[in-house]
Amino acid sequence: MGMPELEIYSMIGAEGFASLVAAFYRQVPQDDLLGPIYPASDLPGAEQRLRDFLIGRFGGPQTYIEQRGHPRLRARHSPFHIDQTIRDRWMRLMDNALREA
Ligand code: HEM
Repeated sequence: MGMPELEIYSMIGAEGFASLVAAFYRQVPQDDLLGPIYPASDLPGAEQRLRDFLIGRFGGPQTYIEQRGHPRLRARHSPFHIDQTIRDRWMRLMDNALREA
């Protein structure tokens, strides 16, 4: 690894993050653990929020912060009951997505 985090956006661009996050969310609706947690009526919105956050975090435009303010990710995840099993599932779907993209 050892990839300088803030250079990742210039390496893979918005398209790279878009295909990563699309590959993640493509798996969510049919997932028995994550499917019920995510807002079924606003999956495209959820996809956009994660994509914009990651783009900003890895050296791209700060669109997420402009639209949502400080990420406050601990607070924004607090409505969901995220235990180790659900965390492990999230990581597995993201791992699949990384390999696919
Ligand atoms: C540990 C497993 C995780 C679970 C189960 C989980 C679940 C969720 C759910 C259900 C939402 C609401 C979807 C929405 O309406 O936006 C959400 C939002 C979000 N998550 Fe996660 N998440 C996890 C880990 C992460 C990680 C590791 C990151 C960052 C790398 C992250 C970043 C975000 C962001 C940026 C939002 C949108 C916050 C907002 O602006 O409202 N999540 N997450």
